[in-house]
Amino acid sequence: MPSTRRSLLTAFLTLSLIDAARMRAFAQAAPELPLTLSCDDGNDVTIEREAGPFFRPNSPLERDLYPGAPGGERITVAGFVLDSRCRPLAGSLVEIWHADENGAYDSIGFRLRGHQFTDVQGRWWFNTIVPALYPGRTRHFHFKVERPGGRVLTTQLYFPGEPRNLEDQLFHETLVLDMKQTRDGRFGRFDFIV
Ligand SMILES: [Fe+2]
Repeated sequence: MPSTRRSLLTAFLTLSLIDAARMRAFAQAAPELPLTLSCDDGNDVTIEREAGPFFRPNSPLERDLYPGAPGGERITVAGFVLDSRCRPLAGSLVEIWHADENGAYDSIGFRLRGHQFTDVQGRWWFNTIVPALYPGRTRHFHFKVERPGGRVLTTQLYFPGEPRNLEDQLFHETLVLDMKQTRDGRFGRFDFIV
């Protein structure tokens, strides 16, 4: 297990727009490659999921959320925002909010809440912690994604191999992060198609 979250993020960030298109063909020859674009021409848009009761507007512009939960298991989540023809969408809003290491949401401040705008290649990433389970739900992150001038996609991302995934009515297999375990935590990849 030689990789770290940082090394996988660095690999992701060197995956340029042109490389991403090339890698789609490459992926068929090398399916173990972890950082390929998960989109083909004509892909369906990412499905929606309810925001739930814990969304709060006006989250900070921040991608490093882990200082809010220093006891949590570290995870980096990253991906592209793409249109349905697989073209990266720069300047898209990506907002995350999630439960802490005890399964609680911050309903007063903005702990484990943040947003950012995709870079010129349409990429986003957050450094945060793995949310704990809370009653009635499987493990999940909440997201809002808004392409420039577009509508807001509200959805949730899930973790592979969670025992409660199949009991959760909001779970959907197309919303599962592509997860890698590294030496210093997990690295989860998901491309939003909006
Ligand atoms: Fe939730």
